[in-house]
Amino acid sequence: MRQLKELVLYTRVFYRFAGWRVPMLVLLALVSGLLDVVGIVALLPLLQVAMGETTDNATSQAALHVMTTLGIPTEFKSMALIIVAIFLAKGTFVFAQSFWTIHAITTVRKNIQTRLAKSIGDASFTFYTDQNTGHMINVLTNETRRFSSGLKVFSQVLLGLIYIVIYVPTILTLQFNLALTLVVATLVVFVVARPLIEKTRLLSIRASEENSALAAELIQFVHAIPYLKATATLPNLRRRVRERVKKMASLDLRMGLRTAILGGFKEPVAVAVLILYILVEVEIGGGSLANVAVVALLLYRLLNQTLGLPASFQRINQLTGSIDFVVDFTRDVTKAVEQDGPNVIDSVDADIVFSNVRFDRGEQNILRNINLKIEHQKTIGIVGESGAGKTTFFNLLTGLLDPSEGEITVDGQDYRTLARASLRRMIGYVPQDPVIINDTIANNICLYAGDPETPECREKIIAAARAANCEFFLQNTPDGLDTMVGDRGMRLSGGQRQRIAIARELFKDPHLLIFDEATSALDGQSEAYVQDSIDRLHGERTIVIIAHRLSTMRRCDWLHVFDGGTVIEQGSFSELYDKPASTFRRMCEQQGVRPLDAAQNG
Ligand SMILES: Nc1ncnc2c1ncn2[C@@H]1O[C@H](COP(=O)(O)OP(=O)(O)OP(=O)(O)O)[C@@H](O)[C@H]1O
Ligand SMILES: [Mg+2]
Repeated sequence: MRQLKELVLYTRVFYRFAGWRVPMLVLLALVSGLLDVVGIVALLPLLQVAMGETTDNATSQAALHVMTTLGIPTEFKSMALIIVAIFLAKGTFVFAQSFWTIHAITTVRKNIQTRLAKSIGDASFTFYTDQNTGHMINVLTNETRRFSSGLKVFSQVLLGLIYIVIYVPTILTLQFNLALTLVVATLVVFVVARPLIEKTRLLSIRASEENSALAAELIQFVHAIPYLKATATLPNLRRRVRERVKKMASLDLRMGLRTAILGGFKEPVAVAVLILYILVEVEIGGGSLANVAVVALLLYRLLNQTLGLPASFQRINQLTGSIDFVVDFTRDVTKAVEQDGPNVIDSVDADIVFSNVRFDRGEQNILRNINLKIEHQKTIGIVGESGAGKTTFFNLLTGLLDPSEGEITVDGQDYRTLARASLRRMIGYVPQDPVIINDTIANNICLYAGDPETPECREKIIAAARAANCEFFLQNTPDGLDTMVGDRGMRLSGGQRQRIAIARELFKDPHLLIFDEATSALDGQSEAYVQDSIDRLHGERTIVIIAHRLSTMRRCDWLHVFDGGTVIEQGSFSELYDKPASTFRRMCEQQGVRPLDAAQNG
């Protein structure tokens, strides 16, 4: 019963991902099953004619009647031709069914992968930060592949069930007692196989979990190899990876063992039942030999299918983990879709206002009472100690996070009513750890927004690279702008990566530019140069800068000092500096930084 319930569940799951392909599979299996049984039953009058037996049983009479009605002579030659034709037709349907299964498998895999990849992109920032990369990669590759391959087993089970539905009544009309024996034999096999099938389910779920953990472990391991080597800590992580791989192999082995056991005892049981049947027939004697031969053939084919069912169920159970993972992940990622508004904007030429903004992450309050204005075309500095909430503030500013309370508006429109992508097209963001793609420097700068081979795009790239002070290091790379940077920019220095990230935003030329510690990895000279490029945009673009080095803040029009998740001071650099008791003054003194005019005069 449990197996049937699961079959219904799997049918629904596969139907969700494969749609009408599933009923089509059932139909093809049904037709090939019907043709098979018709072909075999048609053997009966043929054999009887060949052996010179009487054709007075109902099946033969019916077959002969059909032939006479169609005007086909009831002789051996034409009967044989008809049977060959039936099996040819059946062969075609078997081919169609196999091909259809493969077609469904590849389509389902393609659909799931494209749908999931899109959903992951559409999911909210919090979904992304809460997820484990290894799990996502595992679901998208391994589990999706195993899930779709499940359709093959699924179609085998279907075929088995359809054979039972067609064959049992056929045998029943030919040999009633035999059909009964058969049903009993199949049930016995199911009962015996049950514990094996059950155990496989549990093993499969564990295998999928282990797969995700292994993928996560491998990703971290591969990323960390240079560091791990340099500190001789490679063996520690390698040991963990080895343990996981071993566990995985042992789980696969245990599942494989169960499949082998079930696969192995199918044939002996089938042959035993067959021999038993022939013995009984011979014992009773007197029956039609042709009838015995046809029933034996039907019986053998049916037993092959029914006794194969536990193994197929077991194989489906082997995929339980994958099915669960794919279904659960699809549900979670779809639920986590980022809220989007209808209002499309094509410029950020107004103030951005934070009113009473509070942001909580679960129980933890990260930001509160944020009331501030980012004035149009002003340069704003955000200052604060580590963990004060500056990056979180940026994530709110780009609409990656939504306030738990309060609102953020641009030109009076609440962020939540905006089509986020339209807002973000206006934003250039140099994050704390720049994103570098394994491609050429040119492609990293234009980020595929154009073709670097075309003169206009190339010129824009060169101008952006110059403004971000990339020129000097580009001269020392083997292929200049066409140099490949390696995975995550491994072949570049930290400062070079930062400058490429800055060049990318200058290339985009957005209305609002935000920099999170964008110059922290640069030497004084390079920093001054990049600072100069940013200064040149002063008054033309809205710029927000986070920097620990306060010297880079001196040209800002306005500063906000964050502490413990709230703004404690705000004003111009010199205003804040002039307040002797201000936190800002203390921070400046710690770094030996003074306002520009004071520094120039003194
Ligand atoms: N994904 C997250 N889940 C839970 N807490 C987080 C998450 N991201 C940040 N936090 C917490 O939010 C607080 C503010 O972090 P944030 O990254 O905004 O600080 P910051 O001011 O940018 O610090 P830094 O100068 O070191 O970059 C920290 O206490 C941090 O632990
Ligand atoms: Mg930060």
